[in-house]
Amino acid sequence: MKYRMFGKTGMEVSAMTLGTWGMGGVGWDVYDEETKADAIKAALEEGINFFDTAPAYNAGAAERFLGRVLKEEGARGQVYISTKCGNVFKDDITYVRDGRYDSIIRQCDQSLLNLQTDYIDLMLIHWPDPATPFEETMDALNRLKKEGKILHIGVSNFDIDQMKEISRYGSIEAYQPHYSMVNRQAEETMKWAAAQGMGVMTYGSLGGGILSGRYRELKTFPAADSRNRFYQHFKEPMFSRVMDLLKVMDQVSAANGQIALAQLALKWCYEKPFVSTCIVGTQKRERVLENARSFDQELGAEDWARLDQAVDQLTRA
Ligand SMILES: NC(=O)c1ccc[n+]([C@@H]2O[C@H](COP(=O)([O-])OP(=O)(O)OC[C@H]3O[C@@H](n4cnc5c(N)ncnc54)[C@H](OP(=O)(O)O)[C@@H]3O)[C@@H](O)[C@H]2O)c1
Repeated sequence: MKYRMFGKTGMEVSAMTLGTWGMGGVGWDVYDEETKADAIKAALEEGINFFDTAPAYNAGAAERFLGRVLKEEGARGQVYISTKCGNVFKDDITYVRDGRYDSIIRQCDQSLLNLQTDYIDLMLIHWPDPATPFEETMDALNRLKKEGKILHIGVSNFDIDQMKEISRYGSIEAYQPHYSMVNRQAEETMKWAAAQGMGVMTYGSLGGGILSGRYRELKTFPAADSRNRFYQHFKEPMFSRVMDLLKVMDQVSAANGQIALAQLALKWCYEKPFVSTCIVGTQKRERVLENARSFDQELGAEDWARLDQAVDQLTRA
């Protein structure tokens, strides 16, 4: 496993962060508890020391599961946890933004209980709440930091103007954007955030799994599934463009000992100097192992150029 400093936080984090959205049991394929726990154990064995979760992942279910397994493994002290606030799960398809002072305090206290811990390494504002002034949300987060309940504050899904504005009320140390070979919309914002000294953690690093090459034909997912509701590349027109990219990835893979496509995608992401760690969601041991071993893979300059050209074509279209 490779490690990088996470901005100026002092946290040295693994190249891969394990995402736990699916482990909440809503929005993704559902696995039994033993399988999911084994994926977390595999992550610990591989040296993954950063785990991302949120109360929005099925009303705290993902947090509760992660907290329980880390406790059983006696691992809490050796890992960093990022969780989130300001985006409240109502039902499978309804999430409500809520950055109000009292609500943020309550959400954090609930997350601490869910995670069976007395501190959260990184608390991210999940999405900006247009109905609450940033100052109010930050007052709550600054209080939580002063009390030692959270150690660092970050944001997710913010643009540069929003980050500049919220930084007036306290130190923002991390940024969590959607970023992968199939979505580079946040790239300039990520460069800006990294230049400010923030840690940058990408989500959807496998494009919701499509970059593993697992889906070669259009598939219909249930209404609440993230591959239907959240990620757009499982539908046309994006689907066909991603299939073109996969063809190039197949060729690069064949020229490099059949390196797994997921490994190419994660290595591509981590090669970026403005990325600190790539979050990947998986609930299965063998996929944790495959993904965790992405970062030692070496590709020649020509292969990188081919991949970059294919990505450019897709993301510019
Ligand atoms: N801040 C935000 O707004 C936000 C939004 C989305 C996600 N996130 C965070 O980022 C994490 C990662 O994003 P994500 O889970 O949405 O998307 P992702 O990591 O791009 O994709 C997850 C999907 O990829 C599959 N997968 C993983 N590794 C694979 C492999 N080697 N081969 C084949 N399939 C593989 C998983 O399947 P299985 O689980 O079935 O193995 C799952 O269906 C989330 O879990 C969450 O913690 C944050």
